[in-house]
Amino acid sequence: MTTAAADRRAELVLGLRLAVQHAVTWTTARLGDPAARLMHSPWRDDPYAIYRTLRAQGPLARSKLGLWAATTHEVCDAILRDRRFGVRTSDGSYGDPSAAAAEVPLSLLELDPPDHTRLRKLAAPAFRPRKLEGYRQRVEEAAHELLDRALARGEFDLVRDFATPLPIRVICELIGLSGVDAGHLAEHGRVLAGALDGIRSPRQLRAMRRSSRALGELFGDLIEQRTREPGEDVVTDLVTAFEDDRLDGAELVDLCNVLLVAGFETTVNLIGNGALALLEHPDQWRRLRADPDLAGAVVEETLRWNPPVQMTMRIAHEPVEIAGRRLSRDAPVLVMLAAAGRDPGRHPDPDRFDITREDRADHLAFSGGIHYCLGAPLARMESEIAFRALATRAPELRRAGALVRRPTSIIHGLSALPVAATRAAARR
Ligand code: HEM
Repeated sequence: MTTAAADRRAELVLGLRLAVQHAVTWTTARLGDPAARLMHSPWRDDPYAIYRTLRAQGPLARSKLGLWAATTHEVCDAILRDRRFGVRTSDGSYGDPSAAAAEVPLSLLELDPPDHTRLRKLAAPAFRPRKLEGYRQRVEEAAHELLDRALARGEFDLVRDFATPLPIRVICELIGLSGVDAGHLAEHGRVLAGALDGIRSPRQLRAMRRSSRALGELFGDLIEQRTREPGEDVVTDLVTAFEDDRLDGAELVDLCNVLLVAGFETTVNLIGNGALALLEHPDQWRRLRADPDLAGAVVEETLRWNPPVQMTMRIAHEPVEIAGRRLSRDAPVLVMLAAAGRDPGRHPDPDRFDITREDRADHLAFSGGIHYCLGAPLARMESEIAFRALATRAPELRRAGALVRRPTSIIHGLSALPVAATRAAARR
């Protein structure tokens, strides 16, 4: 068989397998299984109703899909910190191999210790809060420059023109990537983040491979450049570690990929989800405009109330008894980070968006335990600057068209939020 014919056959087989998988989860969803419903429209458009149903079944609910779902803050937090859980199964595999999700380069996110510990130590210094403070002024300038341009038009798409380019600029600077088209990066990020839900069609798989290849080439060039001319960025640190044999070539490229994509795909949605929440809660928008120092509170309340990463997965590495349930070795658990934020046992009146609540930073939106988000201080700084800039520069901001939600379950956010602002205030 020629290579082309073999590829076509492999694609056909994959297509059939994906169709069967889709039929199984869809039927399970139709039959009322809440975890299966999270994977399909129309149910996944309101995941919080599904989390409520799941929570009514206890803090750790069993799905007919063969997995468990943790929905309370206490149990989610306990699982994330419990070293009896990890991200790989006992045979060393990750994710759902039949869905080819394993091809998305996830680096740290798909590793257990000791590899995870080794790689995390190499990337961590670039994200120390003190180091990031050095970027604050440049992030502020970028936010105002993007708003200057958008506000001059009167009507704009807050996601496309503000929430997306801001974190892309910042992470490109941190990584030392220059002259790259932000629109292309945004598209690759969307493709790869969408694949986190699992691949649904051969077409999606092809797009995912194209994006993976394009980013691989981009980083191949950057790594070569940094080997010749070291800079002051995180890629230079990683190239030095590579030269000292502290990580291999594939680990180096995967880590760069994850820093880039995790660095903007999530923050885009934090800014988008927060802006939408403010526009839908005019009393909260008024409070922020009256006191822009509440921008940090908007960040935390958005992370609790409607976070960009809704869930993550853990695998029991040994038989575990938790929350009155007995989990066997290799049992997969969906840790519902977003459900934890709406847990009435943790947050009074959890469905209310309230930027003045006292417990607002008590959420799991950045996960917990050894995989706690490396970029949390950066994400907090960027989005705080974004909300402050919106409140001071666009006090008359309002919705100006239909929003578009992303068709994904793990990453939760908007792909379009049309807005208008008739009067742009000067920079303060
Ligand atoms: C609002 C923005 C963000 C959110 C909600 C978010 C959320 C998360 C979550 C939930 C995890 C852990 C997943 C798990 O436990 O399986 C994670 C890990 C990670 N995040 Fe973020 N993130 C954000 C921004 C960023 C930024 C700006 C960066 C910067 C590059 C970043 C880099 C990473 C990395 C490298 C990891 C892997 C850590 C590890 O596995 O040890 N994130 N993030």
